[in-house]
Amino acid sequence: MSKITIAIDGFSSTGKSTVAKQIANRLGYVYVDSGAMYRAVTFYAMQNGFIKENYFNAKALVANLKNITISFKFNPQLGFAEVYLNNRNVENEIRTLEVSNFVSKVAEISEVRQKLVEQQQHLGKQGGVVMDGRDIGTVVFPHAELKLFMTASAETRAKRRYSELIARGETVTYEAVLKNVQERDYIDTNREDSPLTKAEDAIEIDNSLMGLQEQFDKIMQLVKVTLKKEV
Ligand code: CDP
Repeated sequence: MSKITIAIDGFSSTGKSTVAKQIANRLGYVYVDSGAMYRAVTFYAMQNGFIKENYFNAKALVANLKNITISFKFNPQLGFAEVYLNNRNVENEIRTLEVSNFVSKVAEISEVRQKLVEQQQHLGKQGGVVMDGRDIGTVVFPHAELKLFMTASAETRAKRRYSELIARGETVTYEAVLKNVQERDYIDTNREDSPLTKAEDAIEIDNSLMGLQEQFDKIMQLVKVTLKKEV
């Protein structure tokens, strides 16, 4: 059976990566978390002093892009590929609220997007990939056989992300997480280069009131229909 490309876009904390991992595991496909790549670049900028509290030296980051290598390595225990920055596993460090507070500003930069989109297209060029992000169905894989666009209310998303961060041991408030979710939504949808928007042929899924199993079943159904069309 031919291997298709599945593009999942949507707002922050809509559970894209959870369902993308489930689908990839079920199909034996590769899962690529494109947001992790933008987060890794942001983390690099923080570690190198290009980002401090209220300061972001975008020029210095762009000049140093050639020194950034991002890769993924499958972790069989976790069942997905973890992200590496210059050969160091940064999977946990990139998930903090601190990184979230800067990542959308980094993701606005065209030079950053160009570098990462090129790598994403390379990773998915054989098909058999599930990739989630903001511009996957519109820019990275405009010809993906199945495109999904995930939404949920900002409050629902902030609650989910708040619980995740607390479970990881971070000290955060719900209000700070909600603010971050809303700010990122704004920057991601309003930026000039590849703004977050629903591709014309994407199927919208509002999962505000959906449990994980229901969401997985619904999307698997869409995958099956798409696969049948491809045979
Ligand atoms: O998991 P969460 O919804 O918090 O976001 P993410 O997928 O980790 O992405 C983090 C940020 O990276 C987003 O808010 C965007 O600013 C940026 N991003 C992007 O611009 N394009 C992508 N394809 C993926 C992420």
